[in-house]
Amino acid sequence: MKSKGAGAMTSAGGFPLEPIERASVDELRALQLERLRWSLDHAYRNVAHYRAKFDAAGVRPEDLRSLEDLARFPFTTKADLRETYPFGMFAVPREQVVRIHASSGTTGKPTVVGYTARDIDTWANLMARSIRAAGARPGEIAHVSYGYGLFTGGLGAHYGAERLGLTVVPFGGGQTERQVQLITDFRPAVIMVTPSYMLAIADEIERQGLDPRGTSLRIGIFGAEPWTNEMRAEIEKRLAIDAVDLYGLSEVMGPGVACECLETKDGPTVWEDHFYPEIVDPETGAPLPEGEFGELVYTSLSKEALPIVRYRTRDLTRLLPGTARTMRRIQKITGRSDDMMIVRGVNVFPSQIEELILQRPNLAPHYVCELEREGPLDVLTVRVELKAGEHHDGADAVGAAAALEHAIKTYIGVTVTVKVEPPGAIERSIGKAKRVIDKRRR
Ligand code: DLL
Repeated sequence: MKSKGAGAMTSAGGFPLEPIERASVDELRALQLERLRWSLDHAYRNVAHYRAKFDAAGVRPEDLRSLEDLARFPFTTKADLRETYPFGMFAVPREQVVRIHASSGTTGKPTVVGYTARDIDTWANLMARSIRAAGARPGEIAHVSYGYGLFTGGLGAHYGAERLGLTVVPFGGGQTERQVQLITDFRPAVIMVTPSYMLAIADEIERQGLDPRGTSLRIGIFGAEPWTNEMRAEIEKRLAIDAVDLYGLSEVMGPGVACECLETKDGPTVWEDHFYPEIVDPETGAPLPEGEFGELVYTSLSKEALPIVRYRTRDLTRLLPGTARTMRRIQKITGRSDDMMIVRGVNVFPSQIEELILQRPNLAPHYVCELEREGPLDVLTVRVELKAGEHHDGADAVGAAAALEHAIKTYIGVTVTVKVEPPGAIERSIGKAKRVIDKRRR
């Protein structure tokens, strides 16, 4: 589909955009400054933890005179949310919080987030905007396979799809056989799910003797985990759908902080009327000029229950100018600083390995990276599967392993061991895929 440029009045689905999606950059910056002032003031006045941190840094909300002044304010990290567990970061009385979500960290207590009725309303609107940007139309059926519950994926997608006027099938994760049955029987046009679980559903469609390209699905709205453009191409080809990238995180709201527009598919557009993005140097925290790679940081502009100031996401990307909308985009996130593996001094992200796996015609896109220590050395083993129909015992597997090892050495610069396993051998996730298993810490 052709790009419509920043002046477009309608989304790819042909529906009118909200006025703010068509605002000029100047209008947008003015709105951001006004909202940022409100948000910093709200945080300072109502959250003791923010007040203490601002005071320690010697800044007050009124010190924000321009958007650049935001850099003077302290960062917020997951540790701040842990220290104030469970409700210490709330800026409204608990009675005004109508919903709690939480994400389970790898260590310690979960991170708790809360929403007022107005926050839930804003979230539904932003998810509706995202789903519309992805090309869905009111009246279509949306099958939601993001997990329901404390995870923000299921309910976030659900409220947004309802708000846009879709018929929602709130399936959640798991029971893959039944997912396929309902996709076959209810004929949804839209599916919302992690890209890795989409692949497991595609495998199951095939296992049932059906053609993944022959379903009613037209659009997949995928997120909650890093996935490469190569993975996008694979999913689009395998299922004959458009695969659109949806980004978000619970601390900042949940899904719908940013979403790709179908007509460009060039990285998620940040809904800048509600979230102010910055890119900082992951080591020093210094703000980086627009276009440079670094860590994504968000400040909420309208959240009532949990205002978030300069939240360090650990997601690595860069800010790009708007295309389908005036608002800026983030480059598709292919790595988190948490997922970075240091193998004999070389930084390696699972996404780099994913790209190379997807270039090999006989390998399936299911993989996991296992790190072990042998003496002083880190050893990385990449476990990957042969595609269904390839012969596991024999030259196919040996050749595929050698070819992938060679490609990883050539393009990433590290020596790894590749284990090519039979189809179905790698454990499937029903939500976020775990790409790195670090056995060194055990
Ligand atoms: O994963 C929210 C979400 C649900 C987004 C459904 C999209 C779809 P958390 O569990 O808090 O929230 O995890 C947030 O997941 O910091 C990223 O590292 C990663 N992530 C989310 N979306 C994307 C994406 C949800 N589109 C963390 N691409 C974030 C890459 C993503 N990584």
